Parts: sequence; C-alpha cells; structure tokens
Amino acid sequence: MSKRWYQENRRDPWRREARSKGYRARSAYKLKQIQDKFGIIRKGDSVLDVGCHPGGWTQVAVEEAGENGFVLGVDLLSTSPIDGASIIIGDISENSTLEEISNLLGDRNLNTVISDISPKLTGRYDTDQAISLELSTLVLDKAMMMLTPGGNFVTKIFQGTGIEGLMKAAKQRFSNVQRYAPTASRKSSSETYLICQNKLPRVKKGAQGKTAYQQVQEHLEEIDVLVKNSEMDETPTVKGFRRLKKK
Ligand SMILES: C[S@@+](CC[C@H](N)C(=O)[O-])C[C@H]1O[C@@H](n2cnc3c(N)ncnc32)[C@H](O)[C@@H]1O
Repeated sequence: MSKRWYQENRRDPWRREARSKGYRARSAYKLKQIQDKFGIIRKGDSVLDVGCHPGGWTQVAVEEAGENGFVLGVDLLSTSPIDGASIIIGDISENSTLEEISNLLGDRNLNTVISDISPKLTGRYDTDQAISLELSTLVLDKAMMMLTPGGNFVTKIFQGTGIEGLMKAAKQRFSNVQRYAPTASRKSSSETYLICQNKLPRVKKGAQGKTAYQQVQEHLEEIDVLVKNSEMDETPTVKGFRRLKKK
C-alpha cells in the first residue's frame, strides 16, 4: 500500500468512528446514511445482505430490523458470526445458494435485499466497472425472484457505461428508483448506490419475459459497447459485460 493510502486511512473519520462503535467496516456508515434517507429496512423485516463480508452492513441491518427481524448475510468469503444474524458462505449467482437462502427464510417474506457486492478489483477501471455492473444486475435478478411485492432493493454500482440500462431495468420493476452517493463513501470513489423501493407486483410492459441481465446486455449492444456474438466473424471477444481484446 502507498504512503498516501496510509495517510488517508489514518485521517479517515468514518474508519475511526466505525472502530470506536464496534462496526467491522467503515462501510457500515454508508448503509446508515442510506437508511436515514430512505428507510429501506423496517422493524420486523427479513433482510438479505449480499456480499456481506466482513459484516458492517449486516451489523447495521440487525439493529434496524430489530429483535423481531431476520437478517441473513451471504458472501463468497467466510464472515465471523454476528449476533442476531445468520451467515452463509456462497456465490449469489449459484442456484444452490438461492436454495440455501430459501431454506433459511422458511415461510418468512423477504422484505429487503441490500447488496454492497463488489468484484475483486483489478485496478483497471473499465474492467472493474463492467464486472461490477454485471454483478449488480445479477443480484437485481436474484432479488426479483425472492423479494415480496412492496419490498426494497439496494445495490452498489460504479459510475460508468451501462448504468442507464440497469436504471431502466430497475424502474420497470420498482415504483421508486434513485441513485444516491453517501458522504461516507471515499471522496476518490466512483461508487454510488441504486435505491429501489416498492417492488411492483408485476414488471412493467417492455420488460415482461426478460431478465434485467438480458435488458442490460441489449442496452450495451444498442450503445455499441457489446457486439452480438451472432454478428461476429471471429471467435467471440465478449465475456459477460466485458469486451475482451482480440488475441
Ligand atoms: C465491499 S465488500 C462488502 C462489505 C460489507 N458490505 C461490509 O459492510 O462489511 C464486497 C463483498 O462482495 C463479495 N462478493 C463478490 N462477488 C460475490 C458473489 N458472486 N457472491 C457473494 N458475494 C460476493 C466479496 O467477497 C466481498 O466480500
């Protein structure tokens, strides 16, 4: 890590505050700010935290959902136990993980899905942004399968290409969709959060029969970021939402 990184971190007030209040990550304050502004978690809610490691958001979700709530965290990495929450290790893109979530939920309705999901960063912004867009879109599709009508969804996104496609897909599924950048995000960060409230009982016309993933892919093709595999004259150079350099 660079000298500058250490200096910025030592001065970071959110990091100090998180440490003094017993939160595992400074990111807890991002969820607190989202909650203060939008009230996405209500007392007694069942909440799924996607990409929960090391557990800062899960800690806040437990406080907000209260003793009658139910909080379940999932991550590829193992997360130390958190009082009042259930935690599983799993990849949210896998059906086996969804089955495990469904078993743990039992007959509870899932009211809120919060997702601070982030890829392991490569340091190449375009690649990281494309992978992050893909992950967030995937989580939106999974949330749609599990959330009760009227439920809320929050996900992290990195500013950049394709965000409009994701916003549009979200607006066809929730009655209120906004972008919000908590002040607890680092000043240098290009992350923002998509706040989706009140899941509609049915997706709007135009999105029916399509996943958000298909819609974002179509959007990327429309703006010429992705080329349809069928239009390629050579080996496909597209992986997920990323365009790969031809060898
Ligand atoms: C920024 S961290 C989350 C921090 C957390 N909100 C907190 O407050 O402690 C992003 C997490 O997303 C997880 N992640 C990435 N891809 C995932 C996937 N496919 N399924 C589950 N978790 C994933 C990473 O392992 C990482 O721990």
